[in-house]
Amino acid sequence: MTITERIKQLKREKDAVILAHYYVRPEIQDIADYIGDSFYLSRTAASLPNRTIVYCGVSFMGESARLLCPDRDVLMPDICADCPMAHMVTKGEVDAVRDQYGDLAVVCYINSTAEIKSWSDVSVTSANAVKIVRNLPNKNILFIPDKNLGRHIAGQVPEKNVITVRGYCPVHEHISADEIMQQKEAHPEAEVLAHPECTQAVLNKADYIGSTSGIISYAVKSQKKEFIIATESGVLHELKKQNPDKEFYFPATEPICNDMKLITLEKVLHVLQTGENQASVSAETADRAAATLTRMLDLA
Ligand code: 13P
Ligand code: SF4
Repeated sequence: MTITERIKQLKREKDAVILAHYYVRPEIQDIADYIGDSFYLSRTAASLPNRTIVYCGVSFMGESARLLCPDRDVLMPDICADCPMAHMVTKGEVDAVRDQYGDLAVVCYINSTAEIKSWSDVSVTSANAVKIVRNLPNKNILFIPDKNLGRHIAGQVPEKNVITVRGYCPVHEHISADEIMQQKEAHPEAEVLAHPECTQAVLNKADYIGSTSGIISYAVKSQKKEFIIATESGVLHELKKQNPDKEFYFPATEPICNDMKLITLEKVLHVLQTGENQASVSAETADRAAATLTRMLDLA
């Protein structure tokens, strides 16, 4: 029996379902029952009846599934797969801004630890951040931890006072506007599709800015045949699947999230066999963090 066949057999035996983000390896995307962006995956996790969820992604994703599905087994193929940005704000920074403004909403990117979510009023993903911030009753918004997404939201919702901190995704921060322009010179007809975790210099070159799912559906709908992609290169697998006749180019320095690439077929098989690597959230933070996430699902 191949490893894929053993995974499928164990999934049936254990009433398990596999969720995968677009940044994981192609062979993992191929065995997943659901592939998507962070918003789709959290909404899906919350609605699934299965006893076990194998979450092929980084730890904030597993924590979110644990918070939204407290009675299920949520298994992480690699418990060390973590998002560095998810830790890039302190309680002191949040408290200092709360002290300064009476009318403040603390909005956290879903790419944050459960503890950070417990200090926040509502969570957002790149797919719904602008909509949720626009509709909040508060004028003052503290957006944590991603300074790049925060700056993008501030530009889209100028009626709000959006305060940001210093967090960033190292993968998107290192996408260079010059390398995007080099691809544009080589492929002048190509449209530039960028994730809002990129710097302003990159977003200035973009024809479309959106989440990973947004980028994929834009490429499907566009009449153009060529695209320059400013996000992690794992999205290429789904882009090619959905657009076999279109061409996709990445910056010369390929954007790769090493944490997402830690997930392998062997590790998926291992957690299904053993039930190890349960995603966990401390009891002190769970209730508040779950409320922050549930508010996102309600408002999105
Ligand atoms: P989305 O898939 O929600 O756009 O998020 C990108 C990301 O960086 C996830 O870690
Ligand atoms: Fe975190 Fe960036 Fe990796 Fe996404 S791509 S998990 S934001 S480090």
